[in-house]
Amino acid sequence: VGGTLTNVTKEELSKHNKEDDVWMCIKGKVFNVTSYLEYHPGGVQELMRGAGNDATQLFNEVHKWVNYESMLEKCFVGKLEVTTSRQA
Ligand code: HEM
Repeated sequence: VGGTLTNVTKEELSKHNKEDDVWMCIKGKVFNVTSYLEYHPGGVQELMRGAGNDATQLFNEVHKWVNYESMLEKCFVGKLEVTTSRQA
C-alpha cells in the first residue's frame, strides 16, 4: 500500500509462462525475462523450466553465483506478494 511498485501475486506470475511472455521469480523478486530468453547461456528450454514460477531453487542449483539482479535490472516487475492469514 502506498508503494510505487505493484506486488505480483502467484496467480499473476503463473500466467506468464509462454516463450513470448515469461516472468520468473528469484528470491522474492519477479522479472520479465522474455527479452533475455534468447541470450540465456544455458538455453531457452533450461530457462523455461522456471517460467511462471518461483525459480529460486533451480537458479541456485545451477548457478547461484550469477548476478541476476544487475543483469535483469531493466526486467524487474515487482515483488512477489507474500500471502499471510491477515490478508483478506
Ligand atoms: C547458464 C543466467 C535462470 C539453467 C547461465 C549463465 C548465465 C545464466 C549468465 C552462464 C554462466 C554460468 O554458467 O556460470 C541466468 C539468469 C537467470 C537464469 C540471469 C534468471 C532468469 C536459469 C534457470 C535455469 C537455468 C531458471 C533452470 C534450470 C542454466 C544452465 C546453465 C546456465 C543449465 C549452464 C549452461 C552450461 O554450463 O552449459 N545462466 N540463468 N538458468 N543456466 Fe541460467
